[in-house]
Amino acid sequence: MIHFNADTQTFNLILHSSIYAIQVDAKGRLLHLAWGPRPVDADGVLFGKLRPAPSNHASFEFQARRDEIITFGDTTNHEVTLKASFATLPDPLPTGDAPHLPIRDVRLRYVSYEIVTDAQPGFAQTHGLPTVNSQPRETLRIKLADPVQPLTATLCYRLTPAQDIIERWLELENTGDEPIEIEQLFFATLHLPNGTAELTSVSGAWAQEFQTQREQLPIGRRVIEHRSVQTGHAANPFFLLNRPGQAWEEHGTVYFGALAYSGRWQLGFEQLPSTDVRVHGGYHPADFGLTLAAGAQHKTPTFVCGVCAEGWGGASRRLHAFTRERILPVAVADIGASCAAAPTELQEKATSLSEGADSMQEGGTVRRPATASEFRPILYNSWEATYFGITEQNQIELAQKAAAIGVELFCLDDGWFGGRRFDVAGLGDWTVSPDVFPNGLEPLIAEVNRLGMDFGLWVEPEMVNPDSDLYRAHPEWVLHFPGRPRTEARCQLILDFGREEVVAYIFNALDSLLAQYNIAFIKWDMNRNVSEPGSVAGKAIWQAHVAGVYGIIDRLRAKYLHLTIESCAGGGGRVDLGILGRTDQVWPSDNTDALDRVRIQEGFSLAYPARVMTAWVTHEKNHQTGRFHELSTRFDVAMRGALGIGASLNGLGEAELKTYASYIAFYKRIRHIVQGGDLYRLERLEEAGASTILYVLPDGSEVVYSVVVHSHKLGQFRRMVPLRGLIPSATYEVLDRFEKVRLTAVGYELMVQGIPGDEDGRSGHSRTLHIKQKKLEKSR
Ligand code: GLA
Repeated sequence: MIHFNADTQTFNLILHSSIYAIQVDAKGRLLHLAWGPRPVDADGVLFGKLRPAPSNHASFEFQARRDEIITFGDTTNHEVTLKASFATLPDPLPTGDAPHLPIRDVRLRYVSYEIVTDAQPGFAQTHGLPTVNSQPRETLRIKLADPVQPLTATLCYRLTPAQDIIERWLELENTGDEPIEIEQLFFATLHLPNGTAELTSVSGAWAQEFQTQREQLPIGRRVIEHRSVQTGHAANPFFLLNRPGQAWEEHGTVYFGALAYSGRWQLGFEQLPSTDVRVHGGYHPADFGLTLAAGAQHKTPTFVCGVCAEGWGGASRRLHAFTRERILPVAVADIGASCAAAPTELQEKATSLSEGADSMQEGGTVRRPATASEFRPILYNSWEATYFGITEQNQIELAQKAAAIGVELFCLDDGWFGGRRFDVAGLGDWTVSPDVFPNGLEPLIAEVNRLGMDFGLWVEPEMVNPDSDLYRAHPEWVLHFPGRPRTEARCQLILDFGREEVVAYIFNALDSLLAQYNIAFIKWDMNRNVSEPGSVAGKAIWQAHVAGVYGIIDRLRAKYLHLTIESCAGGGGRVDLGILGRTDQVWPSDNTDALDRVRIQEGFSLAYPARVMTAWVTHEKNHQTGRFHELSTRFDVAMRGALGIGASLNGLGEAELKTYASYIAFYKRIRHIVQGGDLYRLERLEEAGASTILYVLPDGSEVVYSVVVHSHKLGQFRRMVPLRGLIPSATYEVLDRFEKVRLTAVGYELMVQGIPGDEDGRSGHSRTLHIKQKKLEKSR
């Protein structure tokens, strides 16, 4: 709810258990008043009943004032949200003013506000697919204008009260006749209470993404960022912030934020000498340039942010639920069933698709594509099984084995197209290679579908190998500067998505594949960072590249409603709330070693839900680390998100395949809890050397308990871990993979004592248990 007090010119944004307040001051400036948790039933809790006395920050601290948007010029001593240059002098020019141009000074004063329910930020999805919850949300739009220059800035606040989340973005408009140069632009600046200086974020590298780091902000600035055209491995655009020592996993006030953007980004954390904390999030300022032509507008993407009083876990659960309900697209087969709000034309398309799709006919009945269901299907990916050694025969054999153990989606990875026999050639030539598939892809896809699985295909659309027909025909189509070398990485260059013809070429190439073959899923990969970012778009390439990627995906999804997509960038290099609005799952890392993966998953879970977190069960001797892990550990880790299999099934014996099948059957029984439940990190690697997590259905009726011991000292006993989120008085049965009841206990007992059996678990010990409220009692 948005409350406006006209007497004091104060806006209160009231969410489920938090509140955000802003006030227009006597000079028309928009000031931040407060942001924090709020008692759920305290109706009268509002800020700004009175106009506060202007704060009198002393001496050199010019910019202590908490402007909702901080502009360069004015009294700038600190980081700003917006910097712009004007090419024209004010008219009339005040007496005594020299005609310095350009004028690098923006002042913004309040004009008006409106509350709307259909606002969309920049780079919003255009595919038209609904989300699980498509109910309209209120957006407060506050319009400010420069009194003497032709620039307006509208600050937007879209509210998702249930998750205490506000999406903030900025809309700029040039109302004059000359272009305005925008030199720095964050989506928003957040003001946090002073002392909110303990930062949790993730750092990483290829094969080591999402490594949790916690630190105390210095007085001064700390940035996390990535400077390429994708989100990046080295950092990820989200954070958690709290007062040091005042928050932990399930307690304390925690502020959180994430950028819904997959391009070059920065999150800047600034602690002033007063210990006030500001967070600036958005377009990376280095090499940023945006020319706002006369009459033009620019909308930024959103800076998603919130606050809660339930610790880091509470923050994560809010981001997870928000992503599941408001960001992830719902693929078509779900539309009728789960989303009454779906646009009618999509429902019609959905019906005609399921009526008309011959390839989905099975013995006269229409098969619902597994990929287009509420929960992610069990995936088989052939990369680690066959690498570039693919043949029609070995893929068919893998598919047959995969179907027999319960896999629902078979994905053919790299190497199927053009001259791509290894990673040195072929990218850009998106036609099936007759050397590998002399009969085309039809026989493989037909067999995959006959076996009851969907078919998926790997692509890396933004790239080209110099050894490709595409590059030979269009060497000018890559990012480069004239007269400078083109630095290759993994033998490839990045296509210039600043060129419309390049984006059109890639769209057409993918469109042809999807039109020709029954492809239900694509793994969209991206395997290098940028170098020599020269483009026909100039500095605008940083946004143009993202717009190209988003645009292609949106158009494909609007046309192929059953299509689902995995975002991969050499592992977890493109995971963010922007790409998740147009994909269904992500590949967090190329590192499939179970124990390394647990650490990656822990950092990933800080911001992103298990539903999108793919993991494969791979070989006993891991291909990346060379370490050996038991099959149980590999499954217990991979079952923590969207389960996939990556091991070479052709090399496994009957007994082992049976064990695989039994785990997959177990996962199918618990998938709705893992992918749809609330996540609690009961033990974190950081403190316990083990990771114990719990997924709890919102009504508390079913729970999944998953423990993985990472490092364990001989002779040391582990403690039992109390559970959370259960119904205290309900009786629960604790079931193992074979549906054997291991324990019957009351919710309260489990929440005080935990579950016995993992106390002396050594390194690599793992267990997944299904905890169910007893049926009899449920029906009472
Ligand atoms: C990247 C991906 C892998 C695999 C290879 C194929 O590294 O992350 O999963 O698809 O490319 O070349």
